[in-house]
Amino acid sequence: RKVLVLNGPNLGRLGRREPDVYGSTTHDDLVALCERAGAELGISVEVRQTDHEGELVGWLHEAADGGLPVVLNAGAWTHYSIAVRDAAAQLTTPMIELHISNVHRREEFRHRSVLSDIATGLIVGFGVDGYPLALRWLARNAW
Ligand code: DQA
Repeated sequence: RKVLVLNGPNLGRLGRREPDVYGSTTHDDLVALCERAGAELGISVEVRQTDHEGELVGWLHEAADGGLPVVLNAGAWTHYSIAVRDAAAQLTTPMIELHISNVHRREEFRHRSVLSDIATGLIVGFGVDGYPLALRWLARNAW
């Protein structure tokens, strides 16, 4: 039972990046948080981050081929990448769209997501605590 947690552009800079919006947790801390949650839930969790769109597309293909559920924080690609959407649409497993910040109380351009209508569900605005919430739902419902 394995889940891929996929983080898109600029999320590697968590902790240093606009901490008033995204908090002080670093990406390494986030990896540890997810792995700890996975251990508690009895699932294996692999967290990856990339600033390269094609790499994320490749990981989504891997999840589709391997039948792996996904937690996807696509960062800014959420708002406009049809390539990421088309890759995510190939998943036959649950996919949770996640945002650390509440995108709906931010700029208008963050209100639109090209992923939401193909996601199983959304977790938005709970900070990095959203990740263990997503993993918990998947542990109970993805298999
Ligand atoms: C984000 C929200 C996006 O609008 C932004 O581009 C990000 C992070 C979030 O987790 O809140 O990079 O996905």
